[in-house]
Amino acid sequence: MKKHYLITPGPTPIPPEVSSKEGLPVLHHRTSEFGVYFVEVIEGLKYVFQTRNDLFLITSSGTGGMESAVANLISAGDTAIVAASGAFGERWGKILASYGAQVVWVREPDGQAIVPSKIEEALKKNPQAKAVFGQHTETSTGVVNDVQKLGEIVSKTPAVFVLDAISGLGGQELRTDDWKADVVVAGSQKGLMTAPGLAMVSVSRKAWPLVEAAKSPRFYFDYRTLRKSIPEKETPYTPAVTLIVSMAEALRQIKDEGIENVWARHAWLAHATREGVKAMGLTIFTQTPCNVLTSINVPAGLDGKKIVKRTREEYGVSIAGGQVQLEGKIVRLAHMGYMGRFDVIIGLSALEMMLHDMGAKIELGKGVAAAQRHLQNPPAAFAPAPAPGAAAIR
Ligand SMILES: Cc1ncc(COP(=O)(O)O)c(C=O)c1O
Repeated sequence: MKKHYLITPGPTPIPPEVSSKEGLPVLHHRTSEFGVYFVEVIEGLKYVFQTRNDLFLITSSGTGGMESAVANLISAGDTAIVAASGAFGERWGKILASYGAQVVWVREPDGQAIVPSKIEEALKKNPQAKAVFGQHTETSTGVVNDVQKLGEIVSKTPAVFVLDAISGLGGQELRTDDWKADVVVAGSQKGLMTAPGLAMVSVSRKAWPLVEAAKSPRFYFDYRTLRKSIPEKETPYTPAVTLIVSMAEALRQIKDEGIENVWARHAWLAHATREGVKAMGLTIFTQTPCNVLTSINVPAGLDGKKIVKRTREEYGVSIAGGQVQLEGKIVRLAHMGYMGRFDVIIGLSALEMMLHDMGAKIELGKGVAAAQRHLQNPPAAFAPAPAPGAAAIR
């Protein structure tokens, strides 16, 4: 028997109460019964996003949500600023290029956060820019960006701020409205504790004139069509009904815990993971780590790809490796969504054992013990400071 553990930054484990909803008889999507779920999910997502903006559900993975933002905001020839420091930042640029946008790159090396003053500069040099595209948490490197600062900078210009919060939402603090993020994209399979297959996008008032004016071809992803069907409590086309019904349960659980407590729990798990990694004698890949995953430098002489493969095959523990140029060089442990203190222990313990198996100078139990010391305390100490003057969305 091999028990399997999913310690990857998406897909993530799903609470049994959520996955059991996937087994219910499929509802028809043009019924009042479905309408009740639809409204509950939209309202629940607005709470997790902390937004009063329009919010749409799209049946696609997160990348579909990203493409929808580009198709609805950008016309061929428009200038768009991309703040990138990893694989998902690069993805914004690739999507934009395929829609014929003039991309102005503001790149930082992998593992570094976006420098807000460079975005300010890019906006000054490119006053015609329609939008700034960036990541909340860059999953490929484990970095968190200063979204609040970036939002403040972009809000002072005519450009809109488009944020990929696919891995950050529901784990890392995000206050969409207070932090002036105009278009925010998320996905079901990460902090939202639901199976893969749904994207969601919030759209601010500032962004709507761009949506109305954009000339890019769009049909399935057209926000105007999606907006029209909201009062009908449905989506324009057949949605992933099963995922919506199960997500309603996941959102109930998030609401019961309270979004600030969810953020605090993630900060607590992230802290314990980092302390465990350091106690093992390893180093964290970034100086600006996010709270939803930890990226760890692979010890010299070892291959990260083999670590990931063997950890899964021999111990039944799935962790993530590095992507693109980081392949083999880092491994990533998730603490995202339906995860608690013993998920951290499993991830660290599996890594510790595998590195030991592979001949690294690792003393078994050291990382686990360090994490245990932090995990004995409750997460309350990690509660985020209330945003000054902010009216939290309940
Ligand atoms: C930050 C970020 N952006 C985009 C994506 C792509 O999402 P999907 O694989 O659901 O299309 C991911 C998925 O890992 C992600 O973490």
